[in-house]
Amino acid sequence: MQIEVNSDRIAADLDELAKFSDTEPPAVTRIVYSEADQRARAWLKEQCQTSGLAVREDALGNMFARWQGSDTGGGAVGTGSHIDAIPHSGRYDGTTGVIGGLEAIRALQHAGFKPRKSIELLTFISEEPTRFGIGCLGSRMLSGTLTHDNAGALKDRQDQSLDAVRNAAGLTGPLTTVKLPAGYYSSFVELHIEQGPILEKENISLGVVTSIAAPAALRVLIEGEGGHAGAVLMPQRRDAFLGAAEIALAVEAEVLATGAIDTVGTCGLVEVFPGLANSIPSRVRLELDVRDTDLARRDAVLEQIAHACDAVAAKRKLKIASHTLNADAPAVCGAEVVAALEQACEAEGIAYKRMVSRAYHDSLFMSRIAPTAMLFIPCKGGVSHRPDEYASPQDIATGARVLARTLAALAS
Ligand code: HGY
Ligand code: MN
Ligand code: MN
Repeated sequence: MQIEVNSDRIAADLDELAKFSDTEPPAVTRIVYSEADQRARAWLKEQCQTSGLAVREDALGNMFARWQGSDTGGGAVGTGSHIDAIPHSGRYDGTTGVIGGLEAIRALQHAGFKPRKSIELLTFISEEPTRFGIGCLGSRMLSGTLTHDNAGALKDRQDQSLDAVRNAAGLTGPLTTVKLPAGYYSSFVELHIEQGPILEKENISLGVVTSIAAPAALRVLIEGEGGHAGAVLMPQRRDAFLGAAEIALAVEAEVLATGAIDTVGTCGLVEVFPGLANSIPSRVRLELDVRDTDLARRDAVLEQIAHACDAVAAKRKLKIASHTLNADAPAVCGAEVVAALEQACEAEGIAYKRMVSRAYHDSLFMSRIAPTAMLFIPCKGGVSHRPDEYASPQDIATGARVLARTLAALAS
């Protein structure tokens, strides 16, 4: 079967999607349930319907666009990704898998392919942790990894509950309906930019992902005693920010101490109260991100960080409380889906490399309910989560074409 994707249409769709943003181009900001996010999802829904797909949204906002197969009984073949974007980021993270997935379906329709198993394009809600502090909210819930009562307790930075925010966006169904029934999907494939430098450096067109690293996120609240920056002498101080600084350096030290290149740790969110030059910080909120391909090694680092918090609290007479936002197991990708991707690369004569995903993705949770794998395309300089994130139209088209061939094989 000859598969032709329309790379101009992919580029035009990505350009259109990037316009739904709360920051000026080339940056993209599309926080979940924001006006920009809702307009983007309405536009995408229209594109799917124009391609003859039956579209539905669940109570959280996950969007399902189905190409009905002849076998209505068995599980569908899923593909897709996310369209929410962290503040001041780029236009390819997530959207490549949604627009690339839609284009793969259009290419198969154009080639006259008739799916036996239904093929379904998924647009997951809230993949980024930006608003509710936890990543992959939509795929966690539809896979049953996060229960509805835990999700209902989530609040955003303005202390608005998840229910209040989604209801305001017109999503009023009960969260109990989000978890998919067993066997809903027979397989899942996600196309995504690599968000790393390997494919570009080795000049390889595609990455076939065989495992996804184990992510964990902690929220650490530090309380000391504020005061006048001039009047309070150093021996009397209980400076919450200096405690936070010691914890951030302890994260780096514990991560490096594993000696493994696959262990990474980041202290990316620091909120200092009252945040004034002449006032001693009385409270600090830290959010830490620790990941590893090896679960036991990652958990050992988390334990060491807990000990470091206790030591800093004692040394600086601070009150320190840490709360685990998520600590997930890694994903091993489904052998049959990896094989289907590799066969599709070979059929298209495209060089590929098996690799690990160090970023997490909705596929991490889809792997809990169906054999799952990912297809990576190179991104310029390995850059992502930045306005200069870039993937070439050729690489995106190659990814969409190989994805189309993979979906056809899985749905036959
Ligand atoms: O943080 C991640 O790995 C993903 O890009 N949200
Ligand atoms: Mn991202
Ligand atoms: Mn992503």
